[in-house]
Amino acid sequence: MLSLVAFGLSFISLVRGVTVYGQIPLGQTQTVTTTPSGTSTGAVAAVTTYAAYNDTVLTPPNITNLAPGNAFSVGVPSDVATASTQGLQLSIPHNGVGFWGFSIEMSVVNQVLGKNSSFLQVPFLNLMANLVERSGGVMVRVGGNTQERATLVDSISDGRVISKETLDPTRTTRTPGVIYTTDLFYMMNNVSALTNVKWFLGIPFNDSSNWRLQIVEQGQPILGDNLLGFQAANEPDFFVRNQMRDSYNEWDYVGEIGSLSDAIDTNPNIQKKDGILIAPNLGTTDWTLQNIFDAGLIDKYKDRLYSLSVEHYPEDNCFVQFGSGTFHDPQETFPQYLTHQSGQGLALRYTDGTAMAASINKPFIMFETNTASCGGFQGISDTYGAALWALDYGFQMAFANFTHALLHVGGQNVFYNPFTPPPTNQSTFNEWTVGSTYYSTLVIAEAFGKTNTSRIVDLLANDNNEHTPAYAIYENDKLSKYALFNYIDDPTGASDMTVSITVPGGTVPSSVKVKYLSSESVSVKNITWAGQTFGPRFTVDGRLKGDLDIQTVNCDTSSNSCPVKVKAPGFALVFLSDSDAALQEGQATQTFSTSTNTKLQNTATLPSEVVATSNGHSGKDREHLAGTSRHSTTNKAEKVYPFSAVVLFSGIMGGVLVLFSLSD
Ligand SMILES: *[C@@H]1O[C@H](CO)[C@@H](O)[C@H](O)[C@H]1NC(C)=O
Ligand SMILES: *[C@@H]1O[C@H](CO)[C@@H](O)[C@H](O)[C@H]1NC(C)=O
Ligand SMILES: *[C@@H]1O[C@H](CO)[C@@H](O)[C@H](O)[C@H]1NC(C)=O
Ligand SMILES: *[C@@H]1O[C@H](CO)[C@@H](O)[C@H](O)[C@H]1NC(C)=O
Ligand SMILES: *[C@@H]1O[C@H](CO)[C@@H](O)[C@H](O)[C@H]1NC(C)=O
Repeated sequence: MLSLVAFGLSFISLVRGVTVYGQIPLGQTQTVTTTPSGTSTGAVAAVTTYAAYNDTVLTPPNITNLAPGNAFSVGVPSDVATASTQGLQLSIPHNGVGFWGFSIEMSVVNQVLGKNSSFLQVPFLNLMANLVERSGGVMVRVGGNTQERATLVDSISDGRVISKETLDPTRTTRTPGVIYTTDLFYMMNNVSALTNVKWFLGIPFNDSSNWRLQIVEQGQPILGDNLLGFQAANEPDFFVRNQMRDSYNEWDYVGEIGSLSDAIDTNPNIQKKDGILIAPNLGTTDWTLQNIFDAGLIDKYKDRLYSLSVEHYPEDNCFVQFGSGTFHDPQETFPQYLTHQSGQGLALRYTDGTAMAASINKPFIMFETNTASCGGFQGISDTYGAALWALDYGFQMAFANFTHALLHVGGQNVFYNPFTPPPTNQSTFNEWTVGSTYYSTLVIAEAFGKTNTSRIVDLLANDNNEHTPAYAIYENDKLSKYALFNYIDDPTGASDMTVSITVPGGTVPSSVKVKYLSSESVSVKNITWAGQTFGPRFTVDGRLKGDLDIQTVNCDTSSNSCPVKVKAPGFALVFLSDSDAALQEGQATQTFSTSTNTKLQNTATLPSEVVATSNGHSGKDREHLAGTSRHSTTNKAEKVYPFSAVVLFSGIMGGVLVLFSLSD
């Protein structure tokens, strides 16, 4: 290991200022410089029959619910003490690991995280790095319905860490069971070594008389502090429906938590026994949290718990996917997402739970959610409308004292993925696709920042108008940002809003800075955040492209107001201080290079000047080599690091050298 470090440093010493070099490996090509037809690069038109690439464009709902004169004002006291004395209901402070994380269905980790511990998906690393730079970390859960039958095996053919079992067509949620190897944990830990992802797993709950605890025995020592906890049952209130149990109630479930706790206590291979379980993970359709509390979960087992959690989707599309339930027409369903009432309805029903969690000093996590269960809706789940919805829902959960929420990621056959790797047979010529809701997670990460002090308040703005919500964010006890929404879709401009920011009892600064999450319509998929985008489907390597666009709005200090325009549709994040650390966030300075071009750069003939000019944006070289016209510039000052200060060496991963940088 030492000699490898030495090798890494000597390689880097040739190239002052480099931040990222290396390759992540072997067949994991995300880009090619020529397409099969021999023309120059870009995404190849792919077979797009999968739900993840559905082209449906719905008609934007006709909402004509304007404020008088299309203008209203928002203003809250500039400090928490005054806000509190005025009765403003602030959330708990939100801490350092980002608010929105992800829930990844166990059966798709091979596509999303990587094939194994020596074969990681570079776009995933970049997507996580963009969040980590903004919020300090990201929580990711590997689990879902698949976790209940997951079985640890010694090895799987062709070096994979996970493999699907055969489908059981009688199950309602037709997610296959999986087998996995301990290399899954090494793979997850290797991701954490590169970018600060913290993980959740799930203990199989299909057989409670014969607990299979290998996931705890093996997961804890390999993942260490990067592993936060284990789910104890995924939606136990659906166990009868999903044929996991013949009959089952809240008392049965809490009883099984007891039996699981006993099995953990008597297992000599489990080191950490307390503070590890995540419960009750209710889908909260049939059972309520109060039922679970009444059955003794907290009284008897609170020391066992890492957190309390629930899982909930506002709607379902199971009729279309599985022929069960009621058909919901996407066009008619769309307006349900374009209203502040959606997030309010979803989040505020759990305040008894969030209060309970706070009282025992535990997190309260929305462990799995998205636009609709059973894959989401075509024309809704990956649109700008869904991005506004997930953003509002995130703010609303934070306001309701949820500590975190995980957006669910499925396979190619769902509409709602925040990110999707290409279908396996296209992975040599296509890159990833970023869904609209990934932008929501990025904006929340930036809005909450990484001071561990952000407190959120729903302003019930514009007379609590459901189409123009607004929030204020306090950090370090001072008002730091406003978040302003406009759900109305009106290309004429007649429904654009002007929101006047005021500071009651104080004065507005002479100007404020604004970053917009923009698109031309709620129905489409192309989105920019502060001018930058991840690009169209099959072109995403996880890095933001384009120039960072930060608007300045001049304020009128004599009338104590700053007029901020919010288009219809639109979202604005207003920074009250120019020195806010989140303001200059564009593409993360820590990047991971993909593919073939990196291989070129790793060859012995590499001229050091090429590397030396990269300054941590190795993508420039890649684009140069790939001959594309993409921009990767930002107006963020790029730092040139003296090599000794920045190069970390993550080790040899399956024979592949990975070097990476740490930066601010
Ligand atoms: C915020 O919390 C995280 C996680 O607990 C910690 O690593 C980080 O140092 C904290 N940041 C600040 C500014 O206190
Ligand atoms: C990962 O997969 C690659 C390619 O199949 C294989 O060469 C390598 O040995 C595997 N690594 C591990 C740790 O299993
Ligand atoms: C990465 O995975 C390999 C197993 O392939 C393991 O030996 C190594 O310790 C892992 N690195 C980290 C940081 O977990
Ligand atoms: C969130 O917690 C704070 C601090 O305990 C409390 O004042 C507030 O009422 C809670 N918010 C909600 C919506 O329950
Ligand atoms: C990939 O597989 C799908 C499903 O089997 C098939 O329809 C499609 O043509 C394949 N695409 C390519 C580029 O081979």
